[in-house]
Amino acid sequence: MKINEKRLLSRLNALKGFTDTPEKGVTRFSFGEDDARAREYILEIAEAADCTIDIDALQNIRIGLKTNSPDKLTVMAGSHIDTVRHGGWLDGAYGVCGALEVLETLSENIAAAEAGDENAVPLEDLKTNYEVVIFAEEEGSNFGSTMTGSKFVTGIYKEADLDRLRDSNGKTLRQRLIDLPLNDEDDSIDIYSVDYFDAGEILWDFDNIKTMLELHIEQGPVLEKEGLSLGIVDAIYGMKVIEVSLTGVGNHAGATPMGIRYDALCTAAECVLAAEEIIKADDDATAVATVGKLSVFPNCSNVIPENVTFTVEVRDSDWHRIDSFMNAIIDKFRQIAAARQVKCDIEEISESAPFYLTKRLKEDMELRAKELGIPYKVMDSGAVHDACMIANFVDTGMIFVPSIGGRSHVPEENTNEQDIITGVQFLMDTVLNEMKTEV
Ligand code: GLV
Ligand code: MN
Ligand code: MN
Repeated sequence: MKINEKRLLSRLNALKGFTDTPEKGVTRFSFGEDDARAREYILEIAEAADCTIDIDALQNIRIGLKTNSPDKLTVMAGSHIDTVRHGGWLDGAYGVCGALEVLETLSENIAAAEAGDENAVPLEDLKTNYEVVIFAEEEGSNFGSTMTGSKFVTGIYKEADLDRLRDSNGKTLRQRLIDLPLNDEDDSIDIYSVDYFDAGEILWDFDNIKTMLELHIEQGPVLEKEGLSLGIVDAIYGMKVIEVSLTGVGNHAGATPMGIRYDALCTAAECVLAAEEIIKADDDATAVATVGKLSVFPNCSNVIPENVTFTVEVRDSDWHRIDSFMNAIIDKFRQIAAARQVKCDIEEISESAPFYLTKRLKEDMELRAKELGIPYKVMDSGAVHDACMIANFVDTGMIFVPSIGGRSHVPEENTNEQDIITGVQFLMDTVLNEMKTEV
């Protein structure tokens, strides 16, 4: 089944337009206005293709073929449409548009088969259902916790997390969901409000799901450097995120001698460099640590900073190494803060374990890449993905395409048009193969 390349590219370009920061990359946080516009655009496509639409209390969307039946297992594909601040146009959106393109191609095939077209794949050959999934709040841009939507559907997050997670204005996830203007008047959309949050309701029935596939840009330099068109993901790195709050003594920047200062920002500066030094000492050179978010109070040029809050994340393919690096970093922070007589509070924000994807799917995709003559590589993912959460429960595979210059989470994020198309056609072929085989 051949995808419609023009339609795919037009969908991707349309999503690029739903941004809070035009000309400065894509900024589309879950539950914001641009997210709502992007969702509306996608739901219109789904309705035009005569599909079923389900939206859960977390606002994860599932779109199903009209021929889906409760008696069949389901093959799923998807990703997310939320972004980081000033992010790129392909992270997440590529996997969503790819999965939608597969849906539309399948819908057209079904219509052609029903009309007696001999060139269409016969309906009896399609032994499973197909659904597109769009996970909410994958990036953690609102609440600092990545893969939030997929953590709820897998039961990793529970109702208490609705009240634990807070955005930068102090609003809880529950309140943000309550505040959403939901369009629940449209009968064709099955939408749950968080008012009726039910832990059992949101959990996916994994007994009825056969496969989950996520297509994504690589977000790193490997495929481009090696001149390859596809990556077949082996393991997804795990991560831990903490928030550190340092509290010193605010005072006048001119009248306070250097010897009697308790400066929270100088303390934070020492901590940030210490975290880098600890990770760089890793002989394996696989672990990474990042301080990507920092805020200074009161943030005035003539006031000694009283409080600094910053995040630290550590990632690696080995859970024990993540733990031991994070513990070493925390110990060092406490020493630095004690030496400067600054108070140090540390809170764990989120974590996800490293995960190996399903061998059966990796082997199947390798075979397909070889047969099609597509240069590929089996590789790890340094970025986390919703697929990683789902992989705990059902057969899960991930496909990467190259990122130009290895850039991602920045406005420069890009992928060659041909690679974009190759990845989606490869997803189409992989979905079709999964649908043709019953187990
Ligand atoms: C998601 O993009 C992540 O890896 O942070
Ligand atoms: Mn992503
Ligand atoms: Mn991302």
